[in-house]
Amino acid sequence: MKILVVGSGGREHALVWRLAKGGHEVLAAPGNPGMEAIARCVPVKVMDLDGQVKLAVEEGVDLVVVGPEAPLCAGIADKLRAAGVPTFGPGVDGARLEGSKAFSKQLFARHGIRTAAFRVCKTVAEADAAIEELAARAVPAGTGVVVKADGLAAGKGVVVADDAAEARAAARAMLDGRFGEAGATLVIEQRISGREVSLMALTDGERVEVLAAAEDHKTLLDGDRGPNTGGMGTVSPTWVDDAILARVRAEVLTPTVAGLAAEGIDYRGVLYAGLMIDGDGMPWLLEYNCRFGDPETQPVMARLEGDLGAVLLGAATGKLEVGALSWDPRAAVCVVVAAAGYPEAPRSGDVIGGLEAAAGADGEDVVVFHAGTARKGEAIVSAGGRVLGVTALGEDVEAARARAYATVGRIELEGMQVRGDIGMRPSTRAR
Ligand code: GLY
Repeated sequence: MKILVVGSGGREHALVWRLAKGGHEVLAAPGNPGMEAIARCVPVKVMDLDGQVKLAVEEGVDLVVVGPEAPLCAGIADKLRAAGVPTFGPGVDGARLEGSKAFSKQLFARHGIRTAAFRVCKTVAEADAAIEELAARAVPAGTGVVVKADGLAAGKGVVVADDAAEARAAARAMLDGRFGEAGATLVIEQRISGREVSLMALTDGERVEVLAAAEDHKTLLDGDRGPNTGGMGTVSPTWVDDAILARVRAEVLTPTVAGLAAEGIDYRGVLYAGLMIDGDGMPWLLEYNCRFGDPETQPVMARLEGDLGAVLLGAATGKLEVGALSWDPRAAVCVVVAAAGYPEAPRSGDVIGGLEAAAGADGEDVVVFHAGTARKGEAIVSAGGRVLGVTALGEDVEAARARAYATVGRIELEGMQVRGDIGMRPSTRAR
């Protein structure tokens, strides 16, 4: 097949890499320098929806795979389908699962999917009343409320407050416009305790294929300290066992797909569920993203066996073949190399050295996925907060970690920030 991947980050590089390895001809728009050896990169911007449709039609692609959420929420999949192009990614209606937290929580409630108690608020008075009510239910009383901006806020619109005062301050800041329109409506919800996990699944609107689990490390610094980021590294597999997977499939993913269908939403794409598993092994659905996770996709693609292109085309055309994918039993670890100043003010334009040595270091078992890079003359320079995702396979997590960090050690980027403990959580290591 000829497949167009929309996007330019590490997630898209991992998708392009897996699709190209499967023998497909791959185009990426706009793509990044890391993809150039395996795909044809075309300089069409992610949010140039008409430009992307024109490219897909002119090239006669068999399938478009959309990476980021912003074009999905803006309607790229609807436009592509209207032009007759099979597209992996939900339309505007389904993308509201990520684009509107109020919509998604209300959908969970309508379809009996276990989720934290919540209120949708549009004013300070409503928010204060909701915080008081939900904080009183928490154990111990008065703690534990989560304040979420309804719309897309670049991953920053969620405050897990330790007490009601912090929650009230967060609600005021959001309603006062910290995230613009995205914060004009809030979801205030009870804080759930347990272990957080994310799981990605593919769906054609009817069937569900759950992908291998991957665990993110969201904060900047070792030991889960420091500011939140888009994700500083991932490991797959995780502590999530088959029993939990079966419950998530039966109690969360399947009812979601059925609920979407019952409401007339034909959802074809990724359901990326953020979950809390409580002490009884019961899954609580926190939220959905409507696309692949980044950097979760990197280790998952490293472990994926089977024809991803055929499976994504099946999902895009309502004929998802469940069970066609399998997983390398080895572990994969992705270590993110971030720019100086990330996440507040990432510095761009620094020359990245050692890429060739890194790429050739360990054969097929190590891949350096580019996330925020650009060409400047002969050089590759940093062009984003997360610059690279060094992804390695190993017989176990420890071996994968050793390979990934050995390769990171070959990369030169002034001021680069790397967590040293990806895949080292006691729960991960125990597996
Ligand atoms: N790694 C978090 C995300 O993709 O949203």
